[in-house]
Amino acid sequence: MKFRSHLALAVGTLLAIAPAAAQDYPSKPVTIIVPFAAGGPTDVAARIYGEFFSRTLGQQFVIENVAGAGGTTGSVRAARAAPDGYTIFVHNVAPHVAGPALYPSAQYDPVKNFDPIGTLAFAAHYIVVKKDLPPKDLKEFIAYAKANPGKLNYGSAGAGSATHLACVLFGQQAGIDIVHVPYRGTGPALNDLVAGTLDFMCDQGLNMMGQYKGGGVRALAVAQSTRFPGLPEVPTTAEAGLPGYEVSAATAMYAPAGTPPAVRAKLVQTMAAAYKDPALRQRVEALASELPGPGQDTPEALGAFTAKEAARWNEAIKKGNIKAQ
Ligand code: MLT
Repeated sequence: MKFRSHLALAVGTLLAIAPAAAQDYPSKPVTIIVPFAAGGPTDVAARIYGEFFSRTLGQQFVIENVAGAGGTTGSVRAARAAPDGYTIFVHNVAPHVAGPALYPSAQYDPVKNFDPIGTLAFAAHYIVVKKDLPPKDLKEFIAYAKANPGKLNYGSAGAGSATHLACVLFGQQAGIDIVHVPYRGTGPALNDLVAGTLDFMCDQGLNMMGQYKGGGVRALAVAQSTRFPGLPEVPTTAEAGLPGYEVSAATAMYAPAGTPPAVRAKLVQTMAAAYKDPALRQRVEALASELPGPGQDTPEALGAFTAKEAARWNEAIKKGNIKAQ
């Protein structure tokens, strides 16, 4: 009886403490794990939102780049982090869900081990080439690649990253034999494209926009059905001669599964406030990306999208017998 009442007291105290702790959240800096190198699209999106979260919640949201193995090193770290709200995770959805199928050592479940917070941005992929590559447009590029099989190389953020998968699809649909060069993020890969070591990339606007505007690289096509309003001069893949090749990336925030509901709610509320911030919207849109629209702007929508993408990529990986190396 006595033991029971002690237990009841202890549970009561815990229950009293828990909401207070959640109410005070965050009471110290929060780490955002980004599974690619600094300077790439996942990192840039995480920094834009991280600044907003820091300002709004009054604590620093600090980026930690945990790159390697196509982003799976960071996914594993985030899945194993204490679910207390002080470690959260920003990733590109495709490599996050494809990782375990490509890397047997990546022991995490992209759906069950993570609580969705919200989508940061959607960004179409672009076929971008080094500035002095002879082909002037996508048709010429495909003809040039066909005349030079196994000669054109492309950079990605590692085997299984979105920039890798997007180029695998591009090669298959264009019927060309191209060479993959993996990096720890598309930031460093883009540097080599600008330097001319790489021939092309299937890159996101979030990454290449600055270099494209500055003339460091050329964009041959955007892989979606409509031209991006901020880049009206870049044709769609259908207009440029490769209909059906459409690839878009989603960057999203998750917390490790089991994060207290009140803490999650605070993160979700802050995400909703971020969507309404005109300065944040402008920064994201300036990088050829879009904020989630109605129906896409909730954690539930991200959860459903993550599960759907996991099923889609697992099937594609099995069917295409895609290997990480
Ligand atoms: C990718 O999957 O290609 C990533 O988005 C790359 C990155 O963020 O660097």
